[in-house]
Amino acid sequence: MIGRLAVIGVGLIGGSLARALRVAGQVGEVVGCGRSAANLEAAQRLGVVDRFSHDPAEAVRDADMVFIAVPLGAMRDIFAAIKGNLSGEAVVTDGGSVKGSVVADAAAAFGQVPTRFVPGHPIAGTERTGVEASFPELYRNRRVILTPLAETDPEAIQGVTGMWEACGAEVSCMEVHHHDEVLAATSHLPHMLAFGLVDALARLRGNDEIFRYAAGGFRDFTRIASSDAVMWRDICIANREALGSVLAGFGTEMADLADSIRRGDGDHLLEIFRRAKAARDRYVDGV
Ligand SMILES: NC(=O)c1ccc[n+]([C@@H]2O[C@H](COP(=O)([O-])OP(=O)(O)OC[C@H]3O[C@@H](n4cnc5c(N)ncnc54)[C@H](OP(=O)(O)O)[C@@H]3O)[C@@H](O)[C@H]2O)c1
Repeated sequence: MIGRLAVIGVGLIGGSLARALRVAGQVGEVVGCGRSAANLEAAQRLGVVDRFSHDPAEAVRDADMVFIAVPLGAMRDIFAAIKGNLSGEAVVTDGGSVKGSVVADAAAAFGQVPTRFVPGHPIAGTERTGVEASFPELYRNRRVILTPLAETDPEAIQGVTGMWEACGAEVSCMEVHHHDEVLAATSHLPHMLAFGLVDALARLRGNDEIFRYAAGGFRDFTRIASSDAVMWRDICIANREALGSVLAGFGTEMADLADSIRRGDGDHLLEIFRRAKAARDRYVDGV
C-alpha cells in the first residue's frame, strides 16, 4: 500500500497507473503534476488525483512513491526540479520508453543515479494521450520491464514491483542497454514503419483515393501512426543508436524483398512470407 503517490505527467501512462492503484485499493493520496491546468483539473474531476501542483518540487513533498511519466525530453528537468525535495524514504520510478537516456538524465541531474530510483517501462499503451485517455485496466496482463542498476536498492525494486503487480502487470528485469535494443526492434521500428508509410502515402498525388479505399489491414497496420508526435520525436532521439541500426538492417531486408519482386522470384517470396507467418503465428498469436 502506497500512502502518498506523486504522479509527474498525468497523461495516459501516469493517469492509468493512478487509476489502477485506486481500483486495487493500493494507494492513499494521489498528487498530480503537469503544466496545463485543464488536464490537471480534468484529472481531479475524474478522481485520478486528489490534488495537484504545477511545481514538481511541491508535488513530491512527503510522497512515498514518485512516478514520472512525461515525454523523454522533459525527464532531466523533472529530476533536477525534484532533487533535494524528496523524503529520505521516497522511491522514484518512471515509465519512459527508452531507459539509457533516462538513467543518463538521472545521473546528470542528481550527480549520480539515486539508489532509490528504479527505471521502468510498462509495455502497454494506446495512440491516445492525456488524462481523459487513461483507464485502470491498461496494465492488466501486460508486461512491465524494470532496468535497475547494480547499486539500486533491492527494497526499492521490491516496492516498484509490488506497485505494478497491484495493477495486474507481470514484472521482469532487464539490463538498460539490452532493453533499448529489444524495444528498438519490437516497438520503435514498427512505429517508424507506420509513420513513414502514412506520410509517404499522404504526400502522393491522389492520396484522397488511396485513403478512401484503405481496408481493415491498412487501418490496423497504421493505427500507431496516430501516436503523439512529441513523444515519438523524443523516443527516436533518445534511442537513436539502436533504432538507427535496426532501421538500417530493415532497409536491407526491404531492398531484398523489392529485388525479388522485380525479378519475379516467386520461390524467394514464398520463403519470406512462410517464414514470417510461422514466426508471427508462433510468437505473437501464441503468447
Ligand atoms: N503512450 C504509450 O503507448 C507509452 C507506452 C509506454 C511508455 N510511454 C512513456 O510514458 C511517458 C508518458 O507518455 P503518455 O503516453 O502518458 O503521454 P501523455 O498522455 O501525453 O502524458 C504526458 C503528460 O506529461 C505532461 N508533461 C509533458 N511535458 C511536461 C513537462 N515538461 N513537465 C511536466 N509535465 C509534462 C503532460 O501534461 P502537460 O502538457 O499539461 O504538462 C501530459 O499529461 C513517455 O515518456 C512515454 O515514452 C508511453
